[in-house]
Parts: sequence; structure tokens; C-alpha cells
Amino acid sequence: MRVCMIGVGYVGLVTGACFAEIGHEVVCVDTNPDKIRQLSEGETPFYEHGLKDMIRANREAGRISFTIDIAEAVAQNCAFYFIAVGTPAHLEDGGADVSHVYSAAEAAAKAIKARGGLNGSFPVFVVKSTVPVGTSREIGRIVGRHLGPDQFAVASNPEFLRQGCAIEDFMAPDRLVAGSSSERARTLIEELYRPLTRQGRRLVLTTTVETAELIKYAANAFLATKITFINELGRLCEKLGADVEELSLGIGLDKRIGDKFLTTGPGYGGSCFPKDTLALIKTANDLHSPVEIVETVVRVNSRHKHFMYNKIRDALGGSVADRKIAVLGLAFKANTDDVRDSPALTIVPVLQREGANVTVYDPVAADNARLVLGSVRIEYADSLKQAIAGADAVVILTEWEEFRSLDWGVLAGAMARPLVIDLRNLYSLAQASAMGVEYISLGRDPVGGDAGDKGGARR
Ligand SMILES: NC(=O)c1ccc[n+]([C@@H]2O[C@H](COP(=O)([O-])OP(=O)(O)OC[C@H]3O[C@@H](n4cnc5c(N)ncnc54)[C@H](O)[C@@H]3O)[C@@H](O)[C@H]2O)c1
Repeated sequence: MRVCMIGVGYVGLVTGACFAEIGHEVVCVDTNPDKIRQLSEGETPFYEHGLKDMIRANREAGRISFTIDIAEAVAQNCAFYFIAVGTPAHLEDGGADVSHVYSAAEAAAKAIKARGGLNGSFPVFVVKSTVPVGTSREIGRIVGRHLGPDQFAVASNPEFLRQGCAIEDFMAPDRLVAGSSSERARTLIEELYRPLTRQGRRLVLTTTVETAELIKYAANAFLATKITFINELGRLCEKLGADVEELSLGIGLDKRIGDKFLTTGPGYGGSCFPKDTLALIKTANDLHSPVEIVETVVRVNSRHKHFMYNKIRDALGGSVADRKIAVLGLAFKANTDDVRDSPALTIVPVLQREGANVTVYDPVAADNARLVLGSVRIEYADSLKQAIAGADAVVILTEWEEFRSLDWGVLAGAMARPLVIDLRNLYSLAQASAMGVEYISLGRDPVGGDAGDKGGARR
């Protein structure tokens, strides 16, 4: 089937490449000429495992192409116009800015009209972007002004991929949601995904557009809640002398709870949870049906990131001023170079403001972080070794694989003080005991160091 993918950010590019991989013909459109040039030259504008090779193979097979000209895409008579453009939060009220979604739909509709209309085709405009309830219906009105009613359909097909394992998530989805008032559109979407659903498992949930749009927000709000719950319980564990890792296991083995998203960390971030929780709150408040649990989650998550700073400060005896702190990890999670709303972007500026000399290292996200963090009182190391040289403390912020199995016996020799503050709990306490450093983690007893430091970590 022929697919036009409008917007080649994380979602659009991964989805477009994967559609090509499963045999469809895909033309990708983006208004950013640099992105299209890069992609046309075989480069990818961001890091995602396996994506570059997949795009190259499908370009060579003639199944995927890139353009900034929507008319060029429309000329290929696509069966689907997927809209995967960004929906950032409005700064003033947290609501989702859907203007890009509307202009993408309108541009496609106008180009179809300019080409001479639909010529008997029945395109489906599929909203992949995460959008507030009502957006897809409005798209129907916008497109209808150019193409006339009943000549096309609109559907909501929200995306659940996780950055860092996006291809895997596309190829083996837990579920696919197809929301539309048009049965024909729902059937076409099922057909499009058929190569993924042949195993016979019931994967495609067909529903109304409104329900499909809300499923996405509800899923992200629930996951953000789960993360925030365990982060809060982790802090309580520290006060009580309990172990948050064992606590997670103890509750996660209960099938009603499940063990995923029960890993404590420095607070959720990324391009989705922060903005989607805010957008859900806005929608709910507009309708006088507040989602107070979600409101609390947003507040607690924000405070949690500041508790992380307190933890670092206390481990250093009450002040970070003039201390050299090595921060390992800037991406909001491992296997991505995305730093949008990353905990590092909250914690590092506080360290800078309080007078610390910060050296940061991330295997792939440093360039993106530099755009936000700047270069005052901060150094960007090219290697982990360079970052930790002479450090008074190492703070682990992202769960990169390369941070999990370091030889701390050797690394400690290069530090001014062998203090590791692990805000991802990458090491077991047994491993930490053998590391020969002071080790402070989340929701667990500190290891090594003197009693005073342990007391500091507990506060
Ligand atoms: N990133 C994720 O992990 C993820 C997961 C699920 C859903 N989503 C949702 O998917 C949507 C896209 O997210 P993303 O992270 O891929 O965004 P992104 O910011 O990485 O990419 C958006 C792209 O859209 C392009 N664009 C903007 N307006 C356009 C227009 N009118 N025509 C053509 N291109 C246009 C931009 O140039 C950019 O390349 C958002 O609604 C997001 O909430 C994201």
C-alpha cells in the first residue's frame, strides 16, 4: 500500500521506515529542509538503534523516499496520509499545540485538490501524533473544506513506541489502536498492519476516534504515575531502611500490578510524558472533570528531580560549591540522543547555579544537551575517563549500558574522592560493596564511606 508520512521526527521516521520494511511504499514529507537533505544523503537526523541501516536498505529497494514538497508525495496517489508532526505543550497553559497537525492536514488536502482532486481514490488521513480529543474530528472538517465530504476518512492511530527500542516496538506491538467513524478506514488500517498481525493474536483495537485519542493520553499518564509512585516509595525506603529494589520486586510479581515501570530513577522526562500529562490535565480542567491523580504526579515528579539535587548536595557534606562533579548521562533514557525534559536538564543547572564545576559525559546526547545547557561552568568530556578525572563525585543520570559494568577499582584512582551517586540503581548493593567506593543510590542503604556520609544520604 502507498503511504505518505507527514513529519519525519522520531515517530514519523521510525514508522515510515518500518512500513517500508514490511513491504509498503512510503514517501516521507517534512517542512525541515535540513532533515530531508540529510535523509536523502543516507544520514539520520537522530540516533535510533538499527534505523539508519533499515532506511538505507529500503531506499535501495525503492520503497522509501524523502521530500519537502507535499505535492510530490500527493502525485503518488497515496492510500494513507499519516500525520506525525510535533504537538508541543503551550507554555502558558500546558495544552497541546496542534497547529502543525492542522497545517499538515490542510497542506495535503490542498495539494490533492490542486492536482485535480481524488480521481476516485479514498485516502485515509491518519493521525499518529498525540493529540487532544476532538483534533481528528477537526481535521475532518479542514480536509472536507477542500475535498468534499465522504470522499476520504479520518482515523486516529496513536503511537506507543519507546525511543531506544522503537523498531522492536513497531514490529512486535502489544496492541494497535484504530479509531474512526469510517468502517472502511478501520479495515484499511487493519490491512496496512496485516504483516504484523498475521500470528492471529487480536492486536488491533478498533474504536471511535475520541476513544483512540484518549487511550494514548491515558496510557502515558498511567505509566508516568507508576514511575512516580515507585520514586516516591523509594524516598520513603531511604527513611525507613527498606530496599526499593526488593519492594519493586515484591509488588511487581503481583500480576495485577506488573513489574514494568517500577524502576526508581531521577524522575521521568522525555518528549512525551511531561507534555502529555500536562495536556491531559488541560483537557480535563477545560471540561470541569479534573484528573487530580495526574496533577499530583506532575507535581511530585518535578519535586523529585529537585530531591535528586539535595541528595547530591548532602552526599558532599551540604554544599556543592567549587566541587567537581562528573555527570554520566544526559539523555532522558538510554539508547537515545533525545534530551527533551531530561532530568539532567533540571539537575545540572542547579549544580551550576550552586557553584559546582560540572563535567558531563554522554555517549550520544552531548551535542543536543549543549544547545540547552550552554557552556558556562560546564565541560563536555569526550570520554567517561576524562569526565571523572579529579571528580569529587560521579553522578549517574542515564542508564546507559556502558555505565553498568565499570571497573570502579581503577576509576576511583583517578577521582579526588571515590564517591558514586547512582540515580539509576545500576549496581546491586553486593556489587557496590566490591567496588571500593562510597556508593549512594536510590531507596537503598549507602555502601562504603563513613557513618557521617551515610547519615547525609539518608536525610
Ligand atoms: N517521540 C516519541 O517517543 C513519541 C512516541 C509516541 C507518540 N509521539 C507523538 O508523535 C508526535 C511526533 O513526535 P516526534 O517526537 O516524532 O516529534 P519531532 O519533533 O521529533 O518531529 C516532528 C517533525 O514534524 C515536522 N513538521 C512540523 N510541522 C510539519 C508540517 N506542517 N509538515 C511536515 N512536517 C512538519 C518537524 O519538522 C519535525 O521533523 C507528537 O505528537 C508526539 O507526542 C512521540
